[in-house]
Amino acid sequence: MSDYQKVDYDSYTNWHELGKETIPQIQKLITGNKEIWEPTAITPSFTGDSALDFGCGLGRNAPVLFKEFTRVIGYDLPVMIKKLKTLPKIYDLVSHDLPAVLSRENITHIHECVVWQHLTWSSNIIQNVIDLLTKTPSITTVYSVWNSAVNHQKDFKEYFLNSGWKLVETDQLTTSQLSSLAGPNIAHTWYLFIKN
Ligand SMILES: C[S@@+](CC[C@H](N)C(=O)[O-])C[C@H]1O[C@@H](n2cnc3c(N)ncnc32)[C@H](O)[C@@H]1O
Repeated sequence: MSDYQKVDYDSYTNWHELGKETIPQIQKLITGNKEIWEPTAITPSFTGDSALDFGCGLGRNAPVLFKEFTRVIGYDLPVMIKKLKTLPKIYDLVSHDLPAVLSRENITHIHECVVWQHLTWSSNIIQNVIDLLTKTPSITTVYSVWNSAVNHQKDFKEYFLNSGWKLVETDQLTTSQLSSLAGPNIAHTWYLFIKN
């Protein structure tokens, strides 16, 4: 198993069942046992478009995304979406059907926070997402990982490049807007890809 397939804080792998837990328990697992529950997301200023919060959990990062995008959609596994639907509305739309969302919505930004690093590369999930973006001329994406999983980001970029996309811009996001408790160990990188 390579370094990025297992990150230090993450011994939890049963994501398909997470939504069945109580809200405090879900929050505990999502934050890696931190006591604080607040957004870790930061976005560069891409305005006026629709954003997909990929692996949105309980919607911790939705308030940040709504500052930049007019429409924000939460996507997660079926049990988590079921749980989200029992809570006060956070997103414009929540769904566990990614092909349907990407075919019906004009998604131009995918935000992910500590989701893809949990997936083993052999699962093809990221490749499937990229394949579903065929009609999208340009996509911005923020890929946020726990620091120990930075190698994961390199492979992520390659997936896009090998699938006919061109990397136009990339940068590390500053964590200065984050509280020191919320996410000092989370590395945010954003990318702008366009179709070749
Ligand atoms: C560490 S939590 C992060 C949740 C949220 N992004 C946040 O920062 O609060 C990981 C999330 O990824 C979701 N997840 C795991 N595998 C997934 C998959 N294959 N597709 C979509 N979501 C997935 C889990 O259900 C969980 O909500």
